[in-house]
Amino acid sequence: MAFGLFKKKEGNSGSSRGAGYVTLKVKEVINETNDAISIHFEHPDSGEIQYKSGQFFTVIANINGKEERRAYSLCTSPFVDPNPAVTVKRVEGGLMSNFLNDNVKSGDSLELMEPIGNFTTEFSSNNHRHLVLFGGGSGITPLMSIAKSALNQEPNSKVSLIYANRNINSIIFKSTLDEMLGEFHGRFEVKHVLENKPESMDCPEGYLTEQIIKETLAVLPQLSSDSTEYFMCGPGPMMDVVTQSLDNLGIDKSRVYKESFTASLDTKTSESTSDSEEIISREVTIIYDDEEHKITVEPDETILEKGLDEDIDLPFSCQSGLCTACRGKCISGKVKMDEDEGLSEAEIEEGYVLPCVSHPLTDDVVIEIG
Ligand SMILES: Cc1cc2nc3c(=O)[nH]c(=O)nc-3n(C[C@H](O)[C@H](O)[C@H](O)COP(=O)(O)OP(=O)(O)OC[C@H]3O[C@@H](n4cnc5c(N)ncnc54)[C@H](O)[C@@H]3O)c2cc1C
Ligand code: FES
Repeated sequence: MAFGLFKKKEGNSGSSRGAGYVTLKVKEVINETNDAISIHFEHPDSGEIQYKSGQFFTVIANINGKEERRAYSLCTSPFVDPNPAVTVKRVEGGLMSNFLNDNVKSGDSLELMEPIGNFTTEFSSNNHRHLVLFGGGSGITPLMSIAKSALNQEPNSKVSLIYANRNINSIIFKSTLDEMLGEFHGRFEVKHVLENKPESMDCPEGYLTEQIIKETLAVLPQLSSDSTEYFMCGPGPMMDVVTQSLDNLGIDKSRVYKESFTASLDTKTSESTSDSEEIISREVTIIYDDEEHKITVEPDETILEKGLDEDIDLPFSCQSGLCTACRGKCISGKVKMDEDEGLSEAEIEEGYVLPCVSHPLTDDVVIEIG
C-alpha cells in the first residue's frame, strides 16, 4: 500500500514532490509496546538516507481524504543501525499515530520529508564528555539515537539516561537498553522512574521530580561540569521539571538541549507589538524555490495556512511552531509568532520565523524560505 497520494512535482527521490521529499519502503514493523511500533525503512535506490542523531522525518499520509503530516524522530543511529527507523506511540484520539499503528506493514511505502532538526550534537572520538539524557514516554526516540551514537563514536564519553514512564510495560526499547547496559558497562547507565513500579524493580515510583533529579545527578559519574551536556525530550510537564531543576542547580543554559513533541499550553510570542502593529488582513510576500508569491493573510489564519491555500508547495511538518520544517527568514517587515519554541534565541535575532504560527504585523513582510 502507498500512503502518499498527493502528486505535485516529479523528482528523483522516489517521491512525487521532488527535492526534500522521499518515498521509502517499509522493511519491518516492530511492536515495541502495546501502543508503540517502530517502522524500519529501506534506503532508497538513489542512495543512503543521510541524517544526524536527534533529527526527525516528517510522515505524510492521506487520512480520511486529507493530507496529514507529523514529525517522528529517528530512533536509530546513522553510525550503528543499517536502516533508519522511527517509533510511533499512539496518542488517544490522534489521527496519524493511530493510523500508522493500525495500518503500516512491511512492504508498504511511506512518503516522508527528509530528516531535519537541530536537536543534535557533533560526535567525535576526541570528545570526553558526559551526556545526561532525560526522556519521558515516546520522547526516548531522539535520545536513543544520540545515546547509541555517543557510545559508538566516543569511547571516552559516558551516557546517563533518566527515563520516566507510566509502568514497566510502557518502557519503549526496554530490552535494547538492557543489552546496551551490558555492552557499555561503566559508560552507560539508565535510571528508570515509573508512575507504577513492580516490586521487582529498584527505581523511584511516581513522577519525575526535582528531588529525584537532584539525587540522581548527585551519584552520576562525575566528569568536569563543563564537559556535561543535558538533552531532554518528553511531555511538557516533565520538561518543565527538568528545566527548572537544572536551572536551580546552576547549570548553564548553553549546555541544555530540548526537543518538544507538543506545543505548550501557554502561548508564547516573540514580538512586542505597538498599536499600529495589530494583526489585521495584510499582504505578505513569500520567496520560495526562486519564485515570489504575494498572498493576503487574514487575521484568523497563519502565513503558512494561507500559502498552502494558495497552492504554494511550502515545506511544513508539525504546524505548531516546534519542528522548524517551515522555517524562513523575515527579510522585511515584522511578524508575530504564536509559538517560537523551535527557534533558538540566535535564530530569532537573525530574523528567522516559523510561518506555521506567524501573522504579519506590518504591510511590508517578506519571508524567504529555503
Ligand atoms: C520534532 C518532533 C518529533 C516527534 N517525534 C515523535 C516520535 O519519535 N514518536 C512519537 O510517537 N511522536 C513524535 N512526535 C509527535 C508526533 O509528531 C505527533 O504529534 C503525534 O504522533 C500525535 O499525532 P496524531 O496525529 O496522532 O495526533 P493529533 O490528531 O495531531 O492530536 C490529537 C490530540 O492529541 C494531542 N497530542 C498530540 N501529540 C501528542 C503527544 N505527543 N502526546 C500527548 N498528546 C498529544 C493533541 O493536542 C490533540 O489534542 C514528534 C513531534 C515533533 C514536533
Ligand atoms: S511546521 Fe513545524 S515549526 Fe512550522
